[in-house]
Amino acid sequence: MLPLLATAPVAGGLAYLLCYGGVRGPVDWLMRTHAHGPRDRAVVALTFDDGPDPERTPQLLDALDALDVKATFFLLGSKVDAYPALARRIVDAGHEVGNHTYRHPYLPLHRSRSVVRELMQTDRAIAQSTGVVPRLARPPYGGRSPFNVRAFAKLEKRVVLWDVNSFDWRGAPADEVATRVLERVRPGSIVLLHDARDGGETTIEAVKQIVPALRARGLAPVTASQALAR
Ligand code: NI
Repeated sequence: MLPLLATAPVAGGLAYLLCYGGVRGPVDWLMRTHAHGPRDRAVVALTFDDGPDPERTPQLLDALDALDVKATFFLLGSKVDAYPALARRIVDAGHEVGNHTYRHPYLPLHRSRSVVRELMQTDRAIAQSTGVVPRLARPPYGGRSPFNVRAFAKLEKRVVLWDVNSFDWRGAPADEVATRVLERVRPGSIVLLHDARDGGETTIEAVKQIVPALRARGLAPVTASQALAR
């Protein structure tokens, strides 16, 4: 028993390293995940997860329009089914959409069959409301595991993570969120933001600070696909 007890935390730590979104490892090589684009191009991708949201998304779209920015929205299929007109509006405004699963599960706890189902349900919802089948996907919490590899490959998804986490969902003031992002962005960065979480106007107000500051540094805000393009 003793050796088993002693190895349990080590195995747990290994599983954490393999699966959690914050650390890159062998699963990323297998899944060919992207946390950022080439570092020699002066672009930064802004990505917004967990929408569409009936309160936040229209305000965010207005703000992006005023800033003349095209971004990437990783949509939840369940929300798309609830608010199809909002998904449509995102695409009509020229933004890119990606698949963020149907119910936002932590995928390392699920078999590849249910991961495929989550992705397919979301593809169906997005295609029905927008006419677009997303080529990009992002696992909730960045959670990936050896069990997910086949599921994403089967549906030919390009798996997009991030190298700059705004932590906007924590509800910090907008200028703190903006400062955090601006301290960490580099050419080719992909920034994780949210379209439907707590924090009131935090994300939208932060974006209004981030975009001009990026441009002042010569970094153009683009979609994730544009940031990843060679
Ligand atoms: Ni999410």
